[in-house]
Amino acid sequence: MPTAIEVRGLTKRYGALAAVDGIDFSVESGTVFSFLGPNGAGKTTTTEILEGLRRRTDGDVRVLGLDPWNDGAALHRRIGVIPQDFRFFEKITAREAVEYYRALFHTNADPARLLAQVELLDKIDARFDTLSGGQKQKLGLALALTNDPEICFLDEPTTGLDPHARRSIWAVIRDLKRSGRTVFLTTHYLEEAELLADHVAIINHGRIIAAGTPGEIIRAHGRPERITVEAPAELATYLAQRLGVAATADGGHVSVELGDKRDALKVLQAIDASGLPWDSFETAHDTLEDVFVRLVGQMDDGALKQEARS
Ligand SMILES: Nc1ncnc2c1ncn2[C@@H]1O[C@H](COP(=O)(O)OP(=O)(O)O)[C@@H](O)[C@H]1O
Ligand SMILES: [Mg+2]
Repeated sequence: MPTAIEVRGLTKRYGALAAVDGIDFSVESGTVFSFLGPNGAGKTTTTEILEGLRRRTDGDVRVLGLDPWNDGAALHRRIGVIPQDFRFFEKITAREAVEYYRALFHTNADPARLLAQVELLDKIDARFDTLSGGQKQKLGLALALTNDPEICFLDEPTTGLDPHARRSIWAVIRDLKRSGRTVFLTTHYLEEAELLADHVAIINHGRIIAAGTPGEIIRAHGRPERITVEAPAELATYLAQRLGVAATADGGHVSVELGDKRDALKVLQAIDASGLPWDSFETAHDTLEDVFVRLVGQMDDGALKQEARS
């Protein structure tokens, strides 16, 4: 698959702060790539460098084969952008907003068709200041699509939206992918990345701390799968002795880490053979959120300890 975005050793300094600190990643055409990280991680800085809106300090960046800073004019014809906290003229209607962008890009995009694509046709004659947060973001998406872009850059398109509005933005993002476009999505919502993205990079303090498909990240950084039963604490001791596994008891539940999912059968047999009362079992594995919280937490704990030492 051709590469839409290629980033090597990208660095951006604001004075003494390395907001982006030597990152590498690439995005394949036609995929959804999610850049996931807490506030201040460096997402917007990276995104705006890729869009040709900020100048990098160091490193190599190619978007559709172009250098975003030096070939900005050529690039802007081929990408669509919704900036973080997208805003527009308050008194302009959705239709007029699309017409305005159409004139900017010299295209003949049809406002009704574009607004239908983002499920906003019913608001075609509504003024910007009367739209809800979700509707404003959808208008932003429609504007980003005016020039029929190959890549859409969406910087936290769902932050602050209610669950219903977020879901309808997700539907539009899925549509973008279905139409063959590449989507570069920043978010701090874990489940959003897990649901939509083919590939995820987790960024914190300007560094990528994990990357891959959500499944790969969970396998690389998550804890092993666990089986949990309702049982007295003695069962944990019994299982640890009999199987040599890591078993823990907590609040009337006993959990066992499985080295391999096929061990589940052995563990259940041992539980039954224990003669202890047990009930309702379930299995659990780490979500992307569990992994994210732990990785970011470890990095921040490390930074705090270093600060305390210096
Ligand atoms: N124009 C700027 N000048 C100085 N510092 C900036 C500027 N833009 C961002 N920063 C700092 O760089 C870091 C990364 O910011 P940003 O890229 O906006 O993160 P995110 O989008 O992940 O929240 C933050 O510490 C932020 O305060
Ligand atoms: Mg940001």
